[in-house]
Amino acid sequence: MKITGTTRLAGIMGWPVAHSRSPLLHGFWLEETGIDGAYVPLPVRPENVAEALRALPVLGFRGCNLTIPHKQLALAVVDRVEPLARRIGAVNTVIVAPDGKLMAWNTDAFGFRENLRETVPDWDPAARPVVVLGAGGSARAVVAALSDAGVVEIRLVNRTISRADALARDLATTATRISVHAWSEVSAVQRGAGLLVNTTSLGMAGEPPLDLDLSQLPLSAPVIDIVYVPLETGLLAAARQRGHVVVDGLGMLLHQGRPGFEAWFGAPVRVTAELRAAMVASLVKPR
Ligand SMILES: NC(=O)c1ccc[n+]([C@@H]2O[C@H](COP(=O)([O-])OP(=O)(O)OC[C@H]3O[C@@H](n4cnc5c(N)ncnc54)[C@H](OP(=O)(O)O)[C@@H]3O)[C@@H](O)[C@H]2O)c1
Repeated sequence: MKITGTTRLAGIMGWPVAHSRSPLLHGFWLEETGIDGAYVPLPVRPENVAEALRALPVLGFRGCNLTIPHKQLALAVVDRVEPLARRIGAVNTVIVAPDGKLMAWNTDAFGFRENLRETVPDWDPAARPVVVLGAGGSARAVVAALSDAGVVEIRLVNRTISRADALARDLATTATRISVHAWSEVSAVQRGAGLLVNTTSLGMAGEPPLDLDLSQLPLSAPVIDIVYVPLETGLLAAARQRGHVVVDGLGMLLHQGRPGFEAWFGAPVRVTAELRAAMVASLVKPR
């Protein structure tokens, strides 16, 4: 990479930020497109996030991604929040507008939707209920994406019921009904479902496993795990063995990066087999 006097700048702000795969993702696209740009890690403590975001236009940055714990904090700092991000209650992409104002998007829902479209193109959102496990930050993006795609009924399962209730209150619409369920109902809610999505951190490296009885889930239902370390989680291995179509979390991660790249660096980018292979290599490498 060659930095020049006119290099366009963007980055990822988080605390910690060293674990992020976003520099590798955007670095791949910068190299592929040959754009004079750089995407750098920006380790910013939570107490400094407002100051750091305000400094972006001053320093000539085009914008940045946000990761834990800044996704909610930034909502109160930026000048404009797109309606979808407002509904989700978190932002992950900040764009510096030509007038210096900070615009914020949530592209996790876009990433989930694009990956769904790519991996299960014939799936009919309106045909059957969808089971979503988890009610954290990523669940809010996934539920918003499913609702916007035309899903009529979402069965939401979470350990902390009050968190699931809040999600249902915020994201249910006249077209999408959301019912809330305890883990004790996780088998029963799979009956007749057309898709199952895990958004909990269970099954992620270093976290407890997600042991799910899938016997009630129709074999026609795809199973998606948005956890991407490991790429094939216990849930996906079990679902694959039963004969379900399975979708890992890497595609969502890659697609969510596209809108930011296009806004900061001015070129459309794609999720290709080469990009996936480069990212998979980084996931298996010890860090
Ligand atoms: N593929 C992608 O692009 C992408 C994007 C975002 C996130 N992710 C992955 O998604 C996962 C969740 O991220 P997040 O941001 O939504 O996290 P989060 O806001 O902290 O939510 C975590 C969720 O997991 C549940 N959970 C955690 N430990 C549990 C346990 N022992 N038993 C039962 N439930 C448990 C939580 O339930 P409670 O509400 O009861 O605590 C909550 O629903 C992470 O693995 C993350 O890496 C992937």
